[in-house]
Amino acid sequence: MINYESYLSVSGTRMQQSPIRQMGTVAAQNPDIISFAPGYPAPEAFAWDDYREIATSLLAGRQGGVLQYGPTRGHKPLLEFLVSLVGTRGIRTSTDDIIVTTGSQQGLDVIARLLLDPGDVALVELPSYAGAITAFRNVRADLVGVRQDRAGVDLDHLDSLTDRLAREGRRPKFLYVVPNFQNPTGQLMSLARRAALLEWAERRDMLLVEDDPYGALYFEGAATPAETRPIKADDASGRVLYLSSFSKTLAPAFRVAWVVAPTALASRIETAKQALDLCTGSFDQHMVYEACRRGVLDRHVPVLRAHYQHKCGVMERALRDRLQGQAHWMPPRGGFFLWVELPEHIDAGRMLERCLRRGVIYVAGRAFFVDGSGAHTVRLAFSAASADRIVEGINRMGEAFSEESAQPQAPVAVHQE
Ligand SMILES: Cc1ncc(COP(=O)(O)O)c(C=O)c1O
Repeated sequence: MINYESYLSVSGTRMQQSPIRQMGTVAAQNPDIISFAPGYPAPEAFAWDDYREIATSLLAGRQGGVLQYGPTRGHKPLLEFLVSLVGTRGIRTSTDDIIVTTGSQQGLDVIARLLLDPGDVALVELPSYAGAITAFRNVRADLVGVRQDRAGVDLDHLDSLTDRLAREGRRPKFLYVVPNFQNPTGQLMSLARRAALLEWAERRDMLLVEDDPYGALYFEGAATPAETRPIKADDASGRVLYLSSFSKTLAPAFRVAWVVAPTALASRIETAKQALDLCTGSFDQHMVYEACRRGVLDRHVPVLRAHYQHKCGVMERALRDRLQGQAHWMPPRGGFFLWVELPEHIDAGRMLERCLRRGVIYVAGRAFFVDGSGAHTVRLAFSAASADRIVEGINRMGEAFSEESAQPQAPVAVHQE
């Protein structure tokens, strides 16, 4: 028997499965399970007919580039389109500063490889996107969590952490943030807080990594496009690496996303990406570019806003019916997620086992906290399930909650930094 463990690198040994992917597998194996776990887009809302037409015409054209390897940086017309797309978000840039990536997840992975050595500190929000945590941990970075309040990152905590690290002779490489309808909390960072973060980065000579897959999906009447203005839009001195994606607006199957970075870093990201995949799938990029050129994106995004706003409303009403006064949540103003805080003594991981027996799953919030806290929190994605199943799923969750609340509670261990 070969002992494969003995062949693994330190990083290879430490790599961990994403808890969200694990939950996705559970749901895929049993279609009766109602899943609020992965942040999947609504399959009924994909622009199926448009994609069929585009795919047919691309293949009928028999142009080599559609099925050929392409430039690592991305399909040129798509890069040019992206310059104008981010322009509508207030970001002034050029194709020199943009790289198409294979999902934003690859962007995060490349940024981690490029900026972090083992033991380097990266600052992340408490809680933060689990996929970013995994990417940063894979390069053996040391992740330090910054508290958030309702307006976003807590600047006092950020400053005190940076001071503490400085006293230890450590300088964080960057702060990673998701200001628009954050994954996992769904919250929108205030504009004042965004400006303060940029000021902090200037004052402390730090970089920001801004991840923005959900900004276009604000709910009409609840948030305005102006409130989703990226930090990058006001980045006069090149401190922000900005990531965005077509996964939530067109379809994640295309795996087409992009990074806007200062020119010097953009070319290094391109070099790092070469070793990962040579280029993002050419067919995918052509599909996405054609969808943008033919106006599918522009027509489709307002439909999605209404669709997700409706589903979010259904979930909130169901939560009010089942858990009003017992659990807390902030109504999201866009995006895919509703973040629920259960009473402190309820362990969301343990409750998940009861939920699974009743045929509903979510992500227990602890997965999003790098300091091991958050045991009583739950991330619910309202994006993928149908309205009927959302109501049924919350009912099942409510039953599991009542059952769990009736149990004598063992104290929940909370690890603080
Ligand atoms: C905050 C955040 N960043 C990145 C990603 C990865 O997206 P992509 O499909 O573009 O890889 C996700 C997906 O859920 C996300 O929520």
